[in-house]
Amino acid sequence: MDECVVIKGKRILLIISGGIAAYKGPDLVRRLRERGASVRCVLTAGGAKFVSPLALSTVSGDKVYQELFSLIDEREIGHIELSRDADILVVAPASANILAKMVQGQADDIATTALLATDKPVVVAPAMNIRMWEHAATQVNVAALRSRGVTTLGPAEGDMACGEYGMGRMLEPVEIADALEAFFRDRERLSGRRALVTSGPTLEAIDPVRYITNRSSGKQGHAIASALAQLGTETTLVSGPTREPDPTGVRVIHVESARQMLNACEGTLPVDVAVFAAAVSDWRAAMEASGKIKKRPGETTTTLDLVENPDILATISSAGNRRPQLVVGFAAETDDVIDNAARKLEAKGCDWIVANDISKAAGTFGGVANTVHLISRDGVENWPRLSKATVGERLAKRIAQRLTEAND
Ligand code: CTP
Repeated sequence: MDECVVIKGKRILLIISGGIAAYKGPDLVRRLRERGASVRCVLTAGGAKFVSPLALSTVSGDKVYQELFSLIDEREIGHIELSRDADILVVAPASANILAKMVQGQADDIATTALLATDKPVVVAPAMNIRMWEHAATQVNVAALRSRGVTTLGPAEGDMACGEYGMGRMLEPVEIADALEAFFRDRERLSGRRALVTSGPTLEAIDPVRYITNRSSGKQGHAIASALAQLGTETTLVSGPTREPDPTGVRVIHVESARQMLNACEGTLPVDVAVFAAAVSDWRAAMEASGKIKKRPGETTTTLDLVENPDILATISSAGNRRPQLVVGFAAETDDVIDNAARKLEAKGCDWIVANDISKAAGTFGGVANTVHLISRDGVENWPRLSKATVGERLAKRIAQRLTEAND
């Protein structure tokens, strides 16, 4: 598919917030327009300190929207209409301040009001000083926005206007234009597709108060479901108990045990792609006691009979004509990560295995980052250490690519 065809004719609402990178706004408008998109600009009060509305209206060929309560603006096109008329909202540069306002749902100017009033995809390209970017408040805000379906582009590492070097520089306009093209292309590839994702631990009851579970946080599975939904896939997430919020735009089925998880997964078939990121308990108590199991006097050791749980990944991989076109398993390993994972690919009959090192030193379980290897029958791709959100986005893009290749 010709990439430029994908962005051609798209209506982009470009929100320029307050930061030195706002001076790149006119260049970004030009890059997008030369690829055939139409661009309408919203300029915040902070943004207007760095770039003039005249420059933006000249390159966009349209009025620049700055006032929330302007009679003229509202007569021409209201703030609701602004986002209704767009295919996508792009905030570039996105300052730490506008990210925080988006998390809070504030609507105190035309930019934040348009962002709150939209049901269109939202993409942000953060730009700020490295310490502002690394501050826990900003990191929490970005994670919250991502889990609500906002796509982040960058920031990049480099020299900054404040004289420092580090992470926080806005991506270059051409990189943002390329990323938006890729975004539209992947959405086109995945639109009309259905996905199933499992996430979190399972919880296997022993008696009314005790259970067997594991340390899975659900962060990775939730991030994958969120990324697939951002690219327009109709996504169902079957999740064991986690503290993660339900991702926006995803149908979530909450379960506890492996058997419930299997039932829920089977109930979502047929799907085009299924990703099994849950850490399913291999065992459950042979008999769930109806009353609390009491400690007997003098008892110093005890035993618990366990029986094997169904293997959800293996079951769905061999579901005959209900088998998804692409089945992706995970392998949580502490030793010989790639060899063990490659064995699981064969044993479970899936198409890909995402292998991750869950040894304590790697800090994967419960942590925000993940170092994974994507294993298929074609070989092994070693991915760098990435945030779980980025692993989710990268996997969603690879899925889009694979489903398209398979249909060509
Ligand atoms: N899995 C599953 N159902 C199970 C066990 C595992 O669907 N009862 C899936 C997981 O979601 C994951 C893959 O199988 O996608 C591998 O899980 P993992 O725990 O790494 O492997 P196990 O099969 O449990 O093997 P072992 O514990 O021996 O490493």
